Amino acid sequence: MTARNIDGNALAAKVREEIAQRAAELTARGVQPCLAVILVGEDPASAVYVRNKVSACEKAGFRSLKFTYAPDVDPQEVFDRIAELNADDTVHGILVQLPLPKQFDADKVLEAISPEKDVDGFHAENFGLLLQGRKSFYPCTPWGVMKMLDSENVELKGAEAVVIGRSNIVGKPMAVMLLSRGATVTVCHSQTKDLAFHTKRADIVVAAVGRAKFLKGDMIKPGAVVIDVGINRGEDGKLCGDVDFDSAREVASLITPVPGGVGPMTITMLLANTVESAQRVLD
Ligand code: GUN
Repeated sequence: MTARNIDGNALAAKVREEIAQRAAELTARGVQPCLAVILVGEDPASAVYVRNKVSACEKAGFRSLKFTYAPDVDPQEVFDRIAELNADDTVHGILVQLPLPKQFDADKVLEAISPEKDVDGFHAENFGLLLQGRKSFYPCTPWGVMKMLDSENVELKGAEAVVIGRSNIVGKPMAVMLLSRGATVTVCHSQTKDLAFHTKRADIVVAAVGRAKFLKGDMIKPGAVVIDVGINRGEDGKLCGDVDFDSAREVASLITPVPGGVGPMTITMLLANTVESAQRVLD
């Protein structure tokens, strides 16, 4: 079997069109969606992500604000900025790009953001609501994955799902979202004794480990749906995911490529959360 690709670019373009339409309607009613992005330090990857987020906002008709700080900034300056943005009614989403330099306690920074403007879905209150199956802002990457699975009508009820990775940003919320839709979920991680034992049983595998070409075709059940959240540089210098695409596509039924898979959906869901936050101003 050769897997079919789930085209993240095409799905993202479709969803972003709907978001731009909603943004235009809100703007006509006097509420232009606005995302504020805070970038601390000089991590090149973070700079690229932030640039892409700001550009996506502009294309969708949002207003965006960008605040950049030197790597040795006093954290208080960032806390003051967050407080100012929390109080600004024209700002609907606040995002602090991670990772932060050593002098920061990232949890404290994320918790300084008003939960009503936490469009990354990283605040403990929003994560708690997600765990309880209540309405919250969902973290963008796992929510984008759910949209991709739904776009292909992948059956989640009763499916065996394996999530590889237990980060607060992807692995844990991914597991909760799959669980809430009726999947039987196993979370694997660096201490898992026999990873292949688990992945070979999975109808759906989500790889979020951050290791290039880590999940090979011989670790996958024939016909499985394989979602690759990784963005790595391979030995050849090219972008690649956590899945060894060439061997995995010979076994899977559906697979997300890197680039052009989950990546475009992450920013799309950030826009979705921001437009939703703006909508709540009028509700
Ligand atoms: N760093 C890596 N991914 C993300 C993300 O989705 N949001 C933020 N704020 N930082 C990140």
